[in-house]
Amino acid sequence: MSSATKIIAIDGPVGTGKSTVAKEVARRMGFAFLDTGAMYRAATWRALHLGLSLDDAPALAESTRAMKLEICENENGQQVLVDGHDVTDAIRTPEITKLIYKLDQEPAVRRHLVALQQSFGEMQPTVAEGRDIGTVVFPKAKCKIYLDASVDVRAERRALQMEEKGMTVDRDQLKADIADRDHKSMTRADSPLRQAEDAILVDTSHLTIEEVVERLLSLARERL
Ligand code: DC
Repeated sequence: MSSATKIIAIDGPVGTGKSTVAKEVARRMGFAFLDTGAMYRAATWRALHLGLSLDDAPALAESTRAMKLEICENENGQQVLVDGHDVTDAIRTPEITKLIYKLDQEPAVRRHLVALQQSFGEMQPTVAEGRDIGTVVFPKAKCKIYLDASVDVRAERRALQMEEKGMTVDRDQLKADIADRDHKSMTRADSPLRQAEDAILVDTSHLTIEEVVERLLSLARERL
């Protein structure tokens, strides 16, 4: 049996609840969880940490290939180590979020990270989430889901998350940032964000996390 039968591929733009939902589906199915965004974040952190120019494509590729990346999921959540440094929080800063697009459009960077993601999926049943999982990383996956929601709903969710952390939020700015990230992900030349032809669209705008999880679990059971 090919490992493609044991992959649940979840794609979609920022703020659709992808990570939360993917993690919970993985837990309930007993599958491993692969957060591919964390890998692009880690590679961006490393390049900045080394003082590389994010416009220097060969240096970015070289740095990504040399990166020693460890991602562990445990009861306290996810821990990300780059070359032994704990960067769990550092890769989630607004600065990194804003600059990732410089690195995630580099084909050599993507090739390397995609190969790592594929070998992870070969080793165990996996729920993988990102932007190109159903189109590029696991095109043969039997269960592909594309999560979407309106920009207004996604911005509001993100605002509430930030406010919970005590941050002050400019909602108009947040909405503009999300629309800008959508545009960059969807229009890049290499592996743009799009729904795979055989992916099922789930609009999460008016669904709770639990409703989305239930829907994905029933799709996964039907298809795998
Ligand atoms: O899911 P996230 O916000 O942590 O992802 C961070 C960035 O990484 C996102 O802006 C686009 C990029 N990314 C990508 O290009 N391909 C993936 N498979 C996952 C993320």
